[in-house]
Amino acid sequence: MKILAFAASSSSKSINKQLVRYAADQLADAETELLDINNYELPLFSEDKETELGQPELAKAFLERIGNSDALIISFAEHNGSYTAAYKNLFDWASRIKPKVFQNKPMVLLATSPGPGGGSNVLATATTSAPFFDGEVKASLSVPSFFENFDSEQGRITDNKINVQLISAVKSLLENSTSDLKQAV
Ligand SMILES: Cc1cc2nc3c(=O)[nH]c(=O)nc-3n(C[C@H](O)[C@H](O)[C@H](O)COP(=O)(O)O)c2cc1C
Repeated sequence: MKILAFAASSSSKSINKQLVRYAADQLADAETELLDINNYELPLFSEDKETELGQPELAKAFLERIGNSDALIISFAEHNGSYTAAYKNLFDWASRIKPKVFQNKPMVLLATSPGPGGGSNVLATATTSAPFFDGEVKASLSVPSFFENFDSEQGRITDNKINVQLISAVKSLLENSTSDLKQAV
């Protein structure tokens, strides 16, 4: 099973990247790939830019990475209650090439932030809209107060209850799969 995992964040110190890495690591036998959306930076989307540039190779490559995977784990950073501009821009470009961006992939959606909201607004938006883009959401989880619940040095969740929820969310991707789950709790 090939899992593509990424944070919908453009921060080099992204806490969502830390979370998504930990989540992907819980699938012991799966082949996990971490994608960095910073490597897919494109001009600000507009129909004028699209007329000028056509279908950018980077947007095609992003879609291909999704297409070549068996499942997705995405962790969303929340900016002003919504997607980061970096993710939304890449998604807009990709959606003009292939409207069904998620290509029928099963997916687990996560979000975290330093505050108690844990990115729950962006997570709700992402979860509600995923089926319109042929994303099959198996589970979603918001992790509140990141720095209280995650040890960045060890790269793991410290709160047992949240950890159990995360393991359960990730495990939902294993339905109809032979991959095993690491003994993490
Ligand atoms: C422009 C901006 C807007 C933000 N808006 C929110 C917000 O609406 N809700 C929230 O929980 N955190 C918000 N934050 C704080 C982010 O959650 C925090 O920067 C977090 O580290 C982003 O995730 P990342 O590190 O994965 O990029 C905002 C941060 C920035 C820079």
